[in-house]
Amino acid sequence: MGDMSFKAVLSSTQPQVEVLTSEPDQVTGYRAFKLGGFEFRRDEYFARISWPAKGQRISHLMPVDAFLRAVMRDVAWGFFYGWVNFDAVVGTRNLYGRVELFGGRYYGPMKSAGLDCTETFDSPLIMATFRAILADWVNAGFDPFAAPEETGKTVFGVKQGDNLAAIERYRVPTKRMPGLPGDSPLRSDANGFPINRQFTDVPQDEPEVRPEKGFEAQLHAINLFKYLSRSDVTWNPSVTAVCKASLACPTTEEYILPIVHGNDRVEWFLQLSDEITWDVQDKDTGALRARITMKAGDVAAMPADIKHQGYSPKRSMLFVWENATPDLPKLYESGKLKPYPVEF
Ligand code: PHB
Ligand code: FE
Repeated sequence: MGDMSFKAVLSSTQPQVEVLTSEPDQVTGYRAFKLGGFEFRRDEYFARISWPAKGQRISHLMPVDAFLRAVMRDVAWGFFYGWVNFDAVVGTRNLYGRVELFGGRYYGPMKSAGLDCTETFDSPLIMATFRAILADWVNAGFDPFAAPEETGKTVFGVKQGDNLAAIERYRVPTKRMPGLPGDSPLRSDANGFPINRQFTDVPQDEPEVRPEKGFEAQLHAINLFKYLSRSDVTWNPSVTAVCKASLACPTTEEYILPIVHGNDRVEWFLQLSDEITWDVQDKDTGALRARITMKAGDVAAMPADIKHQGYSPKRSMLFVWENATPDLPKLYESGKLKPYPVEF
């Protein structure tokens, strides 16, 4: 690829911002994108992320399927809590309102050679740029949320159509619990959520709820296993119960968590079915701190000072419990809170 010239295109997202994009490449059909000093290009197999350092351009390659699965999570989760590492080199850090994009910042050899780069953007600009990358680079037939067995190989090769339905999946946000009046819907065959191929043995009966008169909209119960057995996505915690700052975010998992998550608070994991192995590393250096295999019924508190990545050999159910108390990152960073919730 030769020199690219970028022009500003108004985003379709609100608030509207200017996304810098090139003309489609004459051979592959894909556009390149620019965000600050960072440039993003793709070819038939790889995403190439580059940035300026020491008067050169440093460039980093990722398999394009892994890159698109990672960007999809960053977009869907609004940059999540703390760090979303696309791999050992590139990723984002959520500053809640602004977002850091980094290359090599947490990769020892690059950091110590001064070849790393970190830039901070207003959230709407980096969000609009990432969404534009997904819209252009995700081909028809590829779903970045799906397990590899459940999507096509059209992620590779030259540009062939798009899959806006998959990357713009809209979820009604849950206010209290799915199925309550005025809240997000439960899942059924009728509304397009069939039972996943690996959960055909999950009982589908709903609990019997018999509230006293006047409490009909307040007492509620659902079959969470049924709800999860009908999830059409992987590695996508979704809020299913809200109690003040306590967010129950269960999810179904298969293959590899597409990002390495750097926590900025403690997260609790309860393995509801099957098995996930977690690599747990130091957040800054990547030094391995633990490898945990969680089987159904196991509970773990993931500390606030680690990054972790999960491997689920079969589709499994994981209950992620998040604490959305404001200012938690500051309390951990200042040492006011220990990075773990219990001392033995
Ligand atoms: C996490 O980083 O804690 C996490 C992210 C996505 C999941 C599960 C866990 O699906
Ligand atoms: Fe995490």
